[in-house]
Amino acid sequence: MRDSTGLKTAVIYGSARRDRQGIKAARFVVRKLEQRGHAVDLVDSLEYELPFLDLMHKEYESGSAPPAMQAVSKILAAADGFVIVSAEYNHSISAALKNMLDHYQSEYLYKPSAIVTYSAGPFGGVRALVNLRAILAELGTPSIPSAFPVSQVHSAFDVEGNPLDPKYDKRIVKFLDEYEWYAHALTAARCKEKMSRDVPTQQRMCRGKGS
Ligand SMILES: Cc1cc2nc3c(=O)[nH]c(=O)nc-3n(C[C@H](O)[C@H](O)[C@H](O)COP(=O)(O)O)c2cc1C
Repeated sequence: MRDSTGLKTAVIYGSARRDRQGIKAARFVVRKLEQRGHAVDLVDSLEYELPFLDLMHKEYESGSAPPAMQAVSKILAAADGFVIVSAEYNHSISAALKNMLDHYQSEYLYKPSAIVTYSAGPFGGVRALVNLRAILAELGTPSIPSAFPVSQVHSAFDVEGNPLDPKYDKRIVKFLDEYEWYAHALTAARCKEKMSRDVPTQQRMCRGKGS
């Protein structure tokens, strides 16, 4: 496994249901990333409870957005990439996830995303996956080619996110290898760009290098 020390990843999870099952998959992904040396923040829609979109974060006067909205902005801006953990609701993503994603814009730019979908049935949320790729492309965080669909999510993990079927431990390796490749590549590109063009818009692109 390639050393990934230095990568910072935000895991974005968007179900606000009281009986939600996908939190188990999100915990699994968080643990796997941490084991590979990532600094991980879980952005959980239920924890941050953003309002239905009125003003986007960028539309508030600096420092005047609701504290939860500012906290999420800070996490997304600091990240080198994103793993999105999405349920399938009526063949698309949940309203809670879309609402959370839509509040932000520049925070995503020039960083990769990786898609984990799940459902209660056998198809692992692949119809949500198709929708989510288009959304992430529009947000400026293109998704990596591989995806990680989880079928029968309710029985795939325990509450701590430990897989009940060892195949998940195996499958996630290639998926995260690929995500790390893109995260390293785009982090290097952002840093190179910043060093060669000293303009303000570039300052946000290279986390931890004077930005
Ligand atoms: C409003 C709603 C719509 C759903 N639509 C689909 C669907 O289109 N396809 C599917 O496979 N499962 C569907 N399901 C089942 C979910 O995949 C399953 O309940 C899953 O656990 C939801 O994620 P959550 O528990 O993290 O909220 C739906 C569930 C809900 C609540």
